[in-house]
Amino acid sequence: MLSLGFGAGFPGIDAVEALREMEGRLEKGLQRLLEGARAKEDGFGWLDLPDSLPEGLFDSVAWLSGFDSVVQIGIGGSALGNRMISSAIGHPFYNELTRKERMAPRFYIADNADPEKASAILGMIDPSRSGFIVASKSGSTAETMANFLFFLGELERSGVKDPAGNILVVTDEKRGALRSFAKETGCRSLSVPEAVGGRYSVLSAVGLLSAGAQGIDIGSLLLGASVMKKNLSGKMETGEDPARVLAASAIRHNEEGRNILVLIPYSDNLASFSEWFCQLWAESLGKGGWGSTPLRALGATDQHSLLQLFTDGPDDKLYLFLVPASRRDLVLPGTSWESLEEISYLGGKTMGSMLYQEALSTASALARKGRPVLWLEVPVIDAFHLGGLVFFFEYVTALTGLSLGLNPFDQPGVEQGKRFTYGLMGRSSYESDADEARIQFRSIMADSAGL
Ligand code: PA5
Repeated sequence: MLSLGFGAGFPGIDAVEALREMEGRLEKGLQRLLEGARAKEDGFGWLDLPDSLPEGLFDSVAWLSGFDSVVQIGIGGSALGNRMISSAIGHPFYNELTRKERMAPRFYIADNADPEKASAILGMIDPSRSGFIVASKSGSTAETMANFLFFLGELERSGVKDPAGNILVVTDEKRGALRSFAKETGCRSLSVPEAVGGRYSVLSAVGLLSAGAQGIDIGSLLLGASVMKKNLSGKMETGEDPARVLAASAIRHNEEGRNILVLIPYSDNLASFSEWFCQLWAESLGKGGWGSTPLRALGATDQHSLLQLFTDGPDDKLYLFLVPASRRDLVLPGTSWESLEEISYLGGKTMGSMLYQEALSTASALARKGRPVLWLEVPVIDAFHLGGLVFFFEYVTALTGLSLGLNPFDQPGVEQGKRFTYGLMGRSSYESDADEARIQFRSIMADSAGL
């Protein structure tokens, strides 16, 4: 269902040779992946998600569907996947459609703790007629808790009899403030499986609930992921296994000084896919001094922004094109205006085929300059293939990390930032974190004195 090909340019590195060189490391990584999955180790739980439907999911989807609006409160892995699925499958102007056209509630995401955004969402909804999904694996992330408190307060002010009756929490089965809130109020709740980390949780209730509430076919999403899982665990020749090709290329190019991975989908629908991927790749692999910086670009839009840098700037990037082979298309009409003679070559062509040819042209332009390009083609963007893509990228990320001997499932750098925030916002037991943050910040201010 996915094919990965090499662009013409693989400067200094022969692709097959790179794969052969990496074979030992990749094999070790794969064995570690299988071992972790078998032992149900912490962090490896995402491997089971395609084949397990979260308990109570469809009942909760039906409940959410009855509201005018659904608001997802969460950040990072508890929001990026939700946005990715909505924009890949849903209508680009979903909330502007009528209820009859949508046949589902409007959908908003409150991720950043930005008062402008939170009040703008409030301005668009009637809290008493809205369902709030509050998603947080840890149940304590400050941004999510701030948005949660804000909307809970608005629910209370709205005069609704039981404010907790509009809330559904998705969190750890046992721990955290959200779990305690669910126990105290009896509000609806679903669990994030213990062994699934935030950025790998999109195929759990964290991502599936809001997708289902928008009428997206979550069965097909999971099926696509499950088929991909089977494909990847089948015996493939090294050169035919797209996951190994990508992992080997990322590692090899990194060692050659190309430590930036540019993901370029040629589809507006996949713009948020890149955002989701950035978190997955950066947080999983930025460890112990190793790292491959994910950079988002969108074809063809960024041909008119970043392409100059890509072709003529430093040779420090690996380019991954993500191209749908087919899509809904529009035939461009011919024109009889004399003044438009110059553009008449477009008449009778389709807009989608032009986008495909632009992907091809840009990849070729990069290859011509000796820049390394990988080309990943997906037959079409629908729920089934999106599920496959999600699983594929999770698999490649984990395989890359494990092959490098890293832990792709923890995020100590993120946790440090969270502790500083807790301390500075006055959470008890985090006083020394607050002190340390202040000391660090003082030195930043001293360095910035001239600005
Ligand atoms: O991948 C991770 O674990 C993190 O980036 C989380 O997704 C993010 O920090 C949000 O955490 P939580 O879901 O616990 O609120």
